[in-house]
Amino acid sequence: MKKRIPLIAPDLEFEDVRRDIERILMSGVLTAGPYVCEFERSVAERVGVDHAVATTSATTAIHLALVVCGVGPGDEVLIPDFTFPATANAVIQTGATPVFVDSGHADFAMDPESARTLISPRTRVILPVDPFGQPANYLALERLAADAGLHLVVDAACSLGASRAGRECGAHGEMGCFSFHPRKVVTCGEGGMVTTNDANLADQLRLRRNHGLVRIEGKVPEFVEPAFNYRMTEIQAALGLSQMRRIESILSDRRLTANRYDDALSKVSGVSVRTATAEETWSYQSYVVLLDDEIDRNAAIANMDSMGIETTIGTYACHQHPAFCSQGIRSDGLSNATRYANQTLTLPLVANMSTSEVDRVVAALISTIGQQ
Ligand SMILES: Cc1ncc(COP(=O)(O)O)c(C=O)c1O
Repeated sequence: MKKRIPLIAPDLEFEDVRRDIERILMSGVLTAGPYVCEFERSVAERVGVDHAVATTSATTAIHLALVVCGVGPGDEVLIPDFTFPATANAVIQTGATPVFVDSGHADFAMDPESARTLISPRTRVILPVDPFGQPANYLALERLAADAGLHLVVDAACSLGASRAGRECGAHGEMGCFSFHPRKVVTCGEGGMVTTNDANLADQLRLRRNHGLVRIEGKVPEFVEPAFNYRMTEIQAALGLSQMRRIESILSDRRLTANRYDDALSKVSGVSVRTATAEETWSYQSYVVLLDDEIDRNAAIANMDSMGIETTIGTYACHQHPAFCSQGIRSDGLSNATRYANQTLTLPLVANMSTSEVDRVVAALISTIGQQ
């Protein structure tokens, strides 16, 4: 029986973090201490921005970013329909309404032209996603936001290490929001971060991350805003930092495996492989292919599972889910997102994947398609 190939495996080694964890436990500083500051500095430097504010997840990072933009009840936020529903949930938490935008024909990200047609007097923010670590179309989206006088906040949950037109993901728009969930390129178990070049926004994010608390020397601390506890712990930050020290090799290893998949799968009929354009670098948070409509994607997942290979869907079309469609949120004109939700397939991408493992996944996919 061949060894099972998992979809993901966190790229962490205990020896990498043993000393840091000992130091944290001995210091007694378990939250919001020097490791969190250092992790923030390291992500800000990698992304090329002035400020980074760590949070408990990307969901809370997006929520915090929307709050500091002043988003609230009665407002609308444009988000891609084809995304993990955390994007929509963060909008709903503010009391605003998510307006679902279709993806493009040729890319999974928010289609700027569809977004333009959905701007209303209530729209406050355009919130694109970099699906699977593939940068959204920032040139068009930044122009659109500027023309319409809207905030541009990016759900960069999957795109640490990706870039477009010489700028890193997380450095587009006013704020970028990262995730450090175990399925991400760098993981803290759970965790998130907002990146920005705006010092005032960074101050607001820090204030609201920590209950709206202000400390003034010689005075009793004051709570100046009703806010949240979205603070990251020191142990989470130590895990993240250990991977930030190796981020270039983590990314190049992922790209090597993705290139091997690209080469093998570009010749397989029924499977569409999307690759980065000359101006993009992808982080390959996930390696995702699009299957032809005649192929039963869910049967492919089950079939590959029986061959010892874990795969999953690409991601969701939010409008198909009761949490959103029951609230009368827009659900028409979303044909690309629907097709992507039904026909995308994520293949295993773990650290140091061997060519024979890639070959096994490809052979299993070809055999699955052949059997249908
Ligand atoms: C596009 C996108 N946004 C947001 C999230 C939520 O991230 P977190 O689990 O850190 O809240 C995810 C998680 O998978 C995601 O893929």
